[in-house]
Amino acid sequence: MPTEFDGKVVLVTGAARGQGRSHAVAFAERGADVVICDRCEDSGALDYPLASEADLAQTEKMITALGRRCLRATVNTADRAAMEALVRRADSEFGGVDIAVANAGVVGMSPIDSHSAELWDEVIASNLTGVFNTLAAVTPGMIARKYGRIITTSSMLGRTGGATMTAYSASKWGVIGMTKSVALELAPHNITVNAIAPGNVATPMVMNDAMYRKFRPDLDQPSWDDVAPVLAAKIHVLPIAAIESEQVSRIVLFLAADASAHMTGMVIPIDAGATAKNSA
Ligand SMILES: NC(=O)c1ccc[n+]([C@@H]2O[C@H](COP(=O)([O-])OP(=O)(O)OC[C@H]3O[C@@H](n4cnc5c(N)ncnc54)[C@H](O)[C@@H]3O)[C@@H](O)[C@H]2O)c1
Repeated sequence: MPTEFDGKVVLVTGAARGQGRSHAVAFAERGADVVICDRCEDSGALDYPLASEADLAQTEKMITALGRRCLRATVNTADRAAMEALVRRADSEFGGVDIAVANAGVVGMSPIDSHSAELWDEVIASNLTGVFNTLAAVTPGMIARKYGRIITTSSMLGRTGGATMTAYSASKWGVIGMTKSVALELAPHNITVNAIAPGNVATPMVMNDAMYRKFRPDLDQPSWDDVAPVLAAKIHVLPIAAIESEQVSRIVLFLAADASAHMTGMVIPIDAGATAKNSA
């Protein structure tokens, strides 16, 4: 049965787990071949584990089980040459990237007076430079083919500030500025560039011991059950502690689909109302 993304090639960065895996599988379910990458190694600047090779291989398995082709690569998006090499492989093996989802990212919380340079560098490299490298790698082919759909991942913290979120918030505001600028530049080439701005999403970025301790410093060994009510009450407006990745994927699919062909340079919040309090 024909499906919406039949014949399309989608690149998803940070696809080993979480939202990236969900986006990659959602496109495969709708007929696309998918290029997936992830760094698959931890960062000494972060207090939670990143994804593994096994996680990325599992995403590949989920895509191929759907009968779609998958090109899998261990690539850090902060490495521009590696991103360009990956897109060259996608060009030669799959015929070019039609849709790119610049999803890879990290989080780090720190008070400003003890904020390490390492944490700043890691967050900016992954969340800002990584998105830039992804856009720089995919756009030449999209311009040549006069078609492209690019979705970047910002955050509710790309539209507001957050105490102890200096680097993260700066990177995610930066993603929105980058998205709007590139959207203006690429519009004549029939390429749309839009951002999503999720609230708390139920992925290992939020569901980890270090994060639990930050939200419940009053407890010795806090668990998700201790943290969930705090997130639901203090951050989101709808009574939801964390949004499921599949809900975010629905909006990503929309931004890649014909339904949104006349939207570019936009930011779609998927934040359970969090920014209704303070953003236009
Ligand atoms: N989880 C949330 O609450 C939330 C909220 C708003 C925005 N976001 C953003 O959504 C995106 C996806 O995050 P998630 O929630 O799925 O978290 P996650 O930690 O589960 O997934 C992120 C993935 O990106 C990979 N990655 C990190 N840095 C990379 C790099 N430099 N190169 C390649 N791969 C890299 C990780 O290994 C991991 O597999 C991120 O950009 C994040 O900032 C997350």
